[in-house]
Amino acid sequence: MNYLKEAVILSLGLYLNLLCRRVSGGQISGKGVVNLGHRQSKWTPLMQTSANLSDITSIRSFFEFRTFDPEGAIFYGDTKEGLDWFVLSLRDGIPEMQIGKADILVSIKGGHKLNDGAWHLLELRSEGKFVVLEVNNKAELVVGLHSKLTEEELTGKIRLAVGGMLVDKQTLFHPFQPEMDACIRGGHWLNLSTPWDTDSTWEPRPCFSQIKRGSYFPGTGVAVFNTSELPGLQTEEAGITIEIFGSWTGTALSLQSTGFQYISKELDGHKDEKEVQLGLKEGSETFDLPREPATLTFTILKHSLVVNSKSELEAESLDFFTMWKKGMLLTFGGIPGDSEATKSTHHLRGCLEKILVQGQVIDLDRALYKHTAVSSHSCPTEPINELT
Ligand SMILES: *[C@@H]1O[C@H](CO)[C@@H](O)[C@H](O)[C@H]1NC(C)=O
Ligand SMILES: *[C@@H]1O[C@H](CO)[C@@H](O)[C@H](O)[C@H]1NC(C)=O
Ligand SMILES: *[C@@H]1O[C@H](CO)[C@@H](O)[C@H](O)[C@H]1NC(C)=O
Repeated sequence: MNYLKEAVILSLGLYLNLLCRRVSGGQISGKGVVNLGHRQSKWTPLMQTSANLSDITSIRSFFEFRTFDPEGAIFYGDTKEGLDWFVLSLRDGIPEMQIGKADILVSIKGGHKLNDGAWHLLELRSEGKFVVLEVNNKAELVVGLHSKLTEEELTGKIRLAVGGMLVDKQTLFHPFQPEMDACIRGGHWLNLSTPWDTDSTWEPRPCFSQIKRGSYFPGTGVAVFNTSELPGLQTEEAGITIEIFGSWTGTALSLQSTGFQYISKELDGHKDEKEVQLGLKEGSETFDLPREPATLTFTILKHSLVVNSKSELEAESLDFFTMWKKGMLLTFGGIPGDSEATKSTHHLRGCLEKILVQGQVIDLDRALYKHTAVSSHSCPTEPINELT
């Protein structure tokens, strides 16, 4: 009964999703809902546009913005083909502006944390020699800038970009990680009504109507880390601990190294789950109903692997501590690669609310590789609401 209704709503959502994909490519309106995540390219903007400065009546842009992601590129603008530029990003959840003009480079960060999953109204405007960032109608950052080397000539082109930059990242004063799992909507950009050009590799994805913190794996794709870049061993007795909190089905993690592979088993409590089968294009999509929250504690000892206090694997011939330090692949959500074995592995579906390695939070934006289907910083609060 209820079950059936959910299936219908879901299939409608998926259908809308497929429709969105079909109209992808080329140009989009700057006013709609745009998901900035799920990108292949790091620095290339998701969308960009340009205008003649002589046609611009006000250098003011505003839009609504929602994220749980602490770091990434939001909005970029330049004149003189990139000689004068600015970029708005987040760092530790706090807005940061960087400006390059003639021989000056400025970086300024301040205001409230914006990565709380709520919609915020952001406005950027130029007031003479000042650039102002307003958040929810309050000025949060004001930067004044003057160079004797430049005259204020308002001719030529102005370029705008969202979700990336048009100048080389080496130009930045304070480097950051550009990937941003966020949504924007209701954009007004210098009062332009022209459509924006999109990155050719970009596949539009819907924004979840309600989100919570976590990394969402829809059942395709994994995130792969090199263990040499993760926190390492502190004491041999304690070993290395990976903890996963969330609600999921499928393979939570796997470890790979030359001649060695370990794939975690599905948790016991999840065997009786029901699945809703939807006969849609792009393979028949299966959607798992929500389940009880679970915790997986995976401990790596010198010669053994322990899952939730039960020994899973003992191998006297292997030294896992050395392998970890040298660099194994630690894969969340399945196993990497395109082999038959990979395809037959049940890819993870669900929300990993937190992943800790040696007690430190792991950010999937820093993975060696992350499939574009995986949301690094947001999960739908209800599976039913995920596609709108
Ligand atoms: C901008 O100005 C140039 C030259 O004045 C013109 O060729 C071009 O069409 C203008 N572009 C727009 C978008 O108005
Ligand atoms: C923005 O555009 C609208 C419609 O094109 C116009 O009515 C309005 O005056 C413009 N605002 C500014 C500040 O240029
Ligand atoms: C992992 O990191 C180690 C040490 O930096 C490096 O030697 C190894 O090639 C890396 N592995 C991969 C797959 O990038």
